[in-house]
Amino acid sequence: MENTNTKKGGFASGIGFVLAAAGSAIGLGNLWAFPYKTAENGGAAFVFLYVLCVLFIGAVTMICEIFLGRRAQANPVTAYKKINKNLGWIGLIAIAVPTIIVCYYSVLGGYTVKFAANSFWGNTGNLSAFAGSEWQVILFTLIFVVLALVVVMAGVKDGIEKASKVLMPALFVLLVAVVIFVLCLGEGVKEGLLYYLVPDFSEITFSSVLAAMGQAFYSLSLGMGAMIVYGSYTDKKINIVKSTGMICVFDTMVALLAGLAIFPAVFHFSAMEGIDTSSLNLNGIMLMFETLPKVFESIGAIGKIIEFFFFAMVVIAAVSSVISIMEVASQFVIQKFKISRKIATAIIAGVTFCVSIPVGISLGYLMNGVDKMTIFGLDWLSFLDTVTNTVLMPVCALLSCVAVGWFIGSKKSIEEMKAEGNSFGKLEGFVRVMMKFIAPALIALIEIFGLIDLIFPGGTFSLNGLGIVLVSYAVLGVMVALYSFFLRNKDTGDNSDENA
Ligand code: PFF
Repeated sequence: MENTNTKKGGFASGIGFVLAAAGSAIGLGNLWAFPYKTAENGGAAFVFLYVLCVLFIGAVTMICEIFLGRRAQANPVTAYKKINKNLGWIGLIAIAVPTIIVCYYSVLGGYTVKFAANSFWGNTGNLSAFAGSEWQVILFTLIFVVLALVVVMAGVKDGIEKASKVLMPALFVLLVAVVIFVLCLGEGVKEGLLYYLVPDFSEITFSSVLAAMGQAFYSLSLGMGAMIVYGSYTDKKINIVKSTGMICVFDTMVALLAGLAIFPAVFHFSAMEGIDTSSLNLNGIMLMFETLPKVFESIGAIGKIIEFFFFAMVVIAAVSSVISIMEVASQFVIQKFKISRKIATAIIAGVTFCVSIPVGISLGYLMNGVDKMTIFGLDWLSFLDTVTNTVLMPVCALLSCVAVGWFIGSKKSIEEMKAEGNSFGKLEGFVRVMMKFIAPALIALIEIFGLIDLIFPGGTFSLNGLGIVLVSYAVLGVMVALYSFFLRNKDTGDNSDENA
């Protein structure tokens, strides 16, 4: 599948595109969020729900986003503008969301670099000291940002594609090695597998369905411009349907494997130490940076090697995701302002790094139980994460389905894709209905219930929650205004602007 886009700086091959998009999708969301959400929400029952969400709404939304970028061969603002001049603001939101995400993702990326580098010396008990050491957090965040910057600066074909072709297989090999090692640990492994995977349908509630949908979107990098941008670097020879299938399979496989590595290891540790797993913290940051080092380091020297493999894999996953999010804003800046990739990327990385400094400091306070530097009662990381993932991401994903399903038209879009060699087989009618009605309706539900949960957590009114919702919608309003005043009637560039 050689791509004529090469001259314009796009992906050189179909598999390069798939690996880069999989790299974007596979990230911290797979390696820590998915396993613990699964364990919390009824094990295999949640996996089942999650797979349904990926198959039915995730894949359809991904097809819409890749298609949007592919047909426009341009940044998200121009891509939406090409459908209708009044829609360009959606593209601006699709650029703002990932740019906000970079600011906190880089801090977590910095943590992963620190923990990988420190594996051989032992990470047990280091979390709060590291998190509280401002210069260390800033330094490691910087190292992480520079790693990503080097890749994005090198360009799509020579940077992102080449890196993904090495990083993705490496990640997979490391993950499989860690899973095999952990499954051979003996005691506790079976209990871990049971905890992770035995379906408990009684735990499936409406909120776990919403959790599965939200997780699917975040994990597949949807509603964040990334797939539109990567899609824009492909040409008509790339089969959107097949590529989407492969990206979804890789992403889901890595998420499932991550759980197979984490839970048996944790249960082995608790069996050996004679402690109750319920006393271990299995949530998010704590699971990754506190519980897991303890688990690996209890296995002795070989455990430290496995720990290094594990964190190296997490660094790889985080870098390949952050390059896609950095690319979203970089592409726009390159095309809108007609400046070189190196300058555009340096500006984006510089600005997001500056914002990541207070994010890192505020996370340090949180990790040390200090109630300082909060916004609406949340540390900066949780605040930015809530604004983007709970409020803005569903809006963006919903609008991408509406743009394709209604503005271009589901029939026309599918005809266009078919004319370019995509085949939907017997599912054509189904995909049309999903694209036009079901996916947007379900995403609207994620948004509505996400908002309700923010404003009325546990049924009582929260002023902080309301504040977060208002700020998020204000961001949306600012994007609409910026678009209307500065971009609507101006040239916003396309892929031919780079290397022009
Ligand atoms: N999908 C990534 C993950 O699962 O960690 C995160 C991510 C990538 C978020 C790309 C946003 C984005 F634009």
